[in-house]
Amino acid sequence: MKVFRLGSDARAFRTASAAASIGFVPTMGALHDGHASLIERAVREHDLAVVSIFVNPTQFAPHEDFAAYPRDEAADLAMCERIGAAMVFAPAVDEIYPLGDATRVRPGPISERLEGSARPGHFVGVATVLTKLFSIVRPDVAYFGQKDFQQLRVVQTMSRDLGLGVGVVGCPTVREPDGLAMSSRNRYLSADERRNALALSAALFAAQDDWSRGQRDPTNLRDGVKRAAAVPGVALEYVSVADPLTLDELARPAERALISLAARVGRTRLIDNVLVGMKLEEIA
Ligand code: PAJ
Repeated sequence: MKVFRLGSDARAFRTASAAASIGFVPTMGALHDGHASLIERAVREHDLAVVSIFVNPTQFAPHEDFAAYPRDEAADLAMCERIGAAMVFAPAVDEIYPLGDATRVRPGPISERLEGSARPGHFVGVATVLTKLFSIVRPDVAYFGQKDFQQLRVVQTMSRDLGLGVGVVGCPTVREPDGLAMSSRNRYLSADERRNALALSAALFAAQDDWSRGQRDPTNLRDGVKRAAAVPGVALEYVSVADPLTLDELARPAERALISLAARVGRTRLIDNVLVGMKLEEIA
């Protein structure tokens, strides 16, 4: 497995394997089994799998956890190698944002609700770094987790709008056995917080059950999630029942929905979602 720090080296890797199909998994490191499932899929579906490890400063607001974001490159590289990645691109910040860097990619309305309104500027940072990474790695397909569903939709829309020629594929959320969605940020949780956080996935699974029993009213679904997640130590930021493609909040019953939430558990911000009435493979 090659490990490159320079964009020029990562570009040369693509140029040298021009005929190969490349599956790409962009990450911020602190890799867990959720990331592993994406890398496994890239290995399975392509001649070469490329992983990037880059904690992207522009997608963090000044008060967020950029400096404290967990970093463990040795373990990350070992995981990539074990799964069979051909190359890891792990640049320093000034390799991606050279002195004087000023160009930004601003995604459209799909980036303005939910996470976009809770974290202004977040998706500009995500879209900008992925445009840079896509242009260096030049993959055929890039894999993203359902865990960050809005990110998946923002990147699909961006790739289409800008004609980047990169297929953007969603992969199911990998969960701990008790239901908690895996996240690099879970390692911030104390044992008590970890227990409280289970109310989030449990509330989403309960909404999924309501849906399968015929509940279609978005207000009832939202209220059910709010009630189920109302446990001490969990501060809900939003609960959304939205159209899975546009992420417009549903005002009346629909045949498909993304039910999503964000919450603070202690000082840790967590997000999770379930998709109902539609399969993840249909999201494109
Ligand atoms: P990061 O949070 O490291 O996540 C990298 C990829 O792993 C994302 O596509 C994310 O959705 C996916 N992922 C995270 N947890 C998952 C889980 N439990 N199951 C399945 N997939 C999961 O998302 C980012 O980094 C950044 O925004 C990035 C796209 C790299 C741009 O900087």
